[in-house]
Amino acid sequence: MEFNFKGKKALVTGGGSGLGRECALLFAKSGADVLIADLLPERCEKVAAEVRALGVESIAYPVDVTNYDQVAAMYKKIVDEWGTVDFVVNSAGVCLTEELTTQKLSDINLSIDVNIKGTIYSCREALAIMRPKKFGKIVNMSSIAAKSCLGGFSVYSATKAAVLAATASLGREAALDNVTVNCICPGIIKTSMWEEILDQLAGSDPAKRDEVWKEWTKGIPNGKPQDPIDIAYMTIFLCTEEARYITSQNIGVDGGYTF
Ligand SMILES: NC(=O)c1ccc[n+]([C@@H]2O[C@H](COP(=O)([O-])OP(=O)(O)OC[C@H]3O[C@@H](n4cnc5c(N)ncnc54)[C@H](O)[C@@H]3O)[C@@H](O)[C@H]2O)c1
Repeated sequence: MEFNFKGKKALVTGGGSGLGRECALLFAKSGADVLIADLLPERCEKVAAEVRALGVESIAYPVDVTNYDQVAAMYKKIVDEWGTVDFVVNSAGVCLTEELTTQKLSDINLSIDVNIKGTIYSCREALAIMRPKKFGKIVNMSSIAAKSCLGGFSVYSATKAAVLAATASLGREAALDNVTVNCICPGIIKTSMWEEILDQLAGSDPAKRDEVWKEWTKGIPNGKPQDPIDIAYMTIFLCTEEARYITSQNIGVDGGYTF
């Protein structure tokens, strides 16, 4: 697939790793300049360098998406540097699994803060720029967990269902302004997030990790976990003119796991 986003400006939260990184690289290959936003400065710098190596501009921007003032300052930065923002991918997220009665309150609150508040803060700032100029595309990362809701994932599932619901509502709010808001529900992808889930479910024993991974992935109807690029392709497609009628949607990229 080839896309021409030359001159367009993209911002990717969670851009320092996994799905966000892959989206940033595909934006760059398509000609867009990309601001890489992530909690970890070294991840921002590394991915920004990878983006620049593809011949476009990049800003490495360390940010904590749970802090509204930091999110607002990030949008001020992209407007000051590049004049605007056209595409936003909200991929920053955490997945902390545990049965609710034993889950730490700090983990519950962090999940809500990053996954819900972080996404909503970013959408708020993005829409304030996109709606007046009558152009913009926002793609949020929800999850199959928003629909499959397995035991041990109650808080994560709730946060991802919130992303799905907020996306649907925001797409409608912005529809008359030629701004689309959609979310993707990725399935199972072996990013650093899944390595951390395996830490939580299986500890460090390689055999146990392997067993848990096989158990989780055997339910995927097409038999394969996805690669980050599968999510990036859908994200970038949603940013094209061809996707102009698609808004308020949640789109599973999960090999048929959910429907
Ligand atoms: N990997 C999967 O199987 C999968 C499946 C469904 C949904 N998702 C969702 O996709 C998104 C990306 O996941 P991933 O697999 O790429 O994970 P990842 O851990 O590889 O990347 C997430 C990034 O978010 C950043 N981040 C975390 N808290 C932050 C904060 N407060 N402020 C700014 N950045 C922060 C992390 O530093 C990390 O670089 C997440 O929202 C996740 O819930 C992933």
